[in-house]
Amino acid sequence: MQVLVTGAAGFIGAALSERLLARGDTVIGIDSLNDYYDPRLKHARLERIARIDGARFHFHHLDFADMAALEEALDGVQVDRIVHLGAQAGVRYSLENPAAYVQSNLVGHANMLEFARHRGVEHMVYASSSSVYGGNDKVPFSVDDRADHPVSLYAATKKADELMSETYAHLYRIPLTGLRFFTVYGDWGRPDMAYWIFTKKILAGEPIPVFHGGEMWRDFTHIDDIIAGVLAVLDHAPADDGAVKAGGSVKPHALYNIGNHRSEKLLDFIAVLESACGVKAAIDWQPMQPGDVVRTYADIAAIQRDLGYQPTTSIEQGLPRFVQWYREYHGL
Ligand SMILES: NC(=O)c1ccc[n+]([C@@H]2O[C@H](COP(=O)([O-])OP(=O)(O)OC[C@H]3O[C@@H](n4cnc5c(N)ncnc54)[C@H](O)[C@@H]3O)[C@@H](O)[C@H]2O)c1
Repeated sequence: MQVLVTGAAGFIGAALSERLLARGDTVIGIDSLNDYYDPRLKHARLERIARIDGARFHFHHLDFADMAALEEALDGVQVDRIVHLGAQAGVRYSLENPAAYVQSNLVGHANMLEFARHRGVEHMVYASSSSVYGGNDKVPFSVDDRADHPVSLYAATKKADELMSETYAHLYRIPLTGLRFFTVYGDWGRPDMAYWIFTKKILAGEPIPVFHGGEMWRDFTHIDDIIAGVLAVLDHAPADDGAVKAGGSVKPHALYNIGNHRSEKLLDFIAVLESACGVKAAIDWQPMQPGDVVRTYADIAAIQRDLGYQPTTSIEQGLPRFVQWYREYHGL
């Protein structure tokens, strides 16, 4: 099978590309290799993917917000399924550079839907986010809950992606599945995320910024569990049978939460990280950040019921593995 993976040099896209190659698929990878975080990490991920099977990994360095470039690069290339993970990620950066989110997440998502439509693909899976739940205080968050009050532009673009997708499933009957990821962490992760920043600072003996008095909770999901879930979803396109899908659509469009179903208190998370690093952290207390939410907690009943998804990695297992990888990658 020929799978187009956008954001293939990103954290989740690279891990997925490796697993697709390992199971025998051909991967067409797209990434703009932008410098939102150090592009050397993106290049290193690409080298790692190519080492699994360079002959079945075809990489295109391009911006999918540029439709002409996308069509030109993939002219005549067979695409059976798409996993659209490329996006401008990060909540806080959306306050600084909203235009990047409009381009990649709105224009780019519309382009990928058009591409899927014209190619008549079997299934397109795309990344949404737990941030669409905004400041909802009913927990755990269910795909049946309203998610109409985002608190950052990032979240609003992800919600808009879900709405655009619904219209494409309705008008063109393209099977689509949106995945609301909950704080993904692990080896080859993202330098802009708290677990990476904390690890870097703890190992350097610097204080770590902790917001809102540490009164924050996150559903942390290990990359291995995420990839198992994405593969299960990719292999089960929603049917065009008029039945109600997860998330409420009667079109071939499903929405799933993909989390660990455990909401960890930030200070407990830090304690696990301190023990993995073997260092007690100094804390730099900071107020709540604009755009941030106090709590995330995934209700994963829908994806468990439909696809048998079952996360198995606790932070007590996953964080020490990340710290070990971090030390090795940086030669520490
Ligand atoms: N990691 C998480 O905790 C998390 C949580 C919720 C949602 N998500 C979503 O999951 C997806 C993957 O996230 P990630 O953690 O791997 O992020 P990432 O930033 O590591 O990967 C995204 C990749 O997309 C590429 N990209 C961005 N805009 C592009 C464009 N216009 N054209 C081509 N490539 C482009 C970037 O260069 C990057 O390599 C994103 O859609 C993100 O919003 C991630």
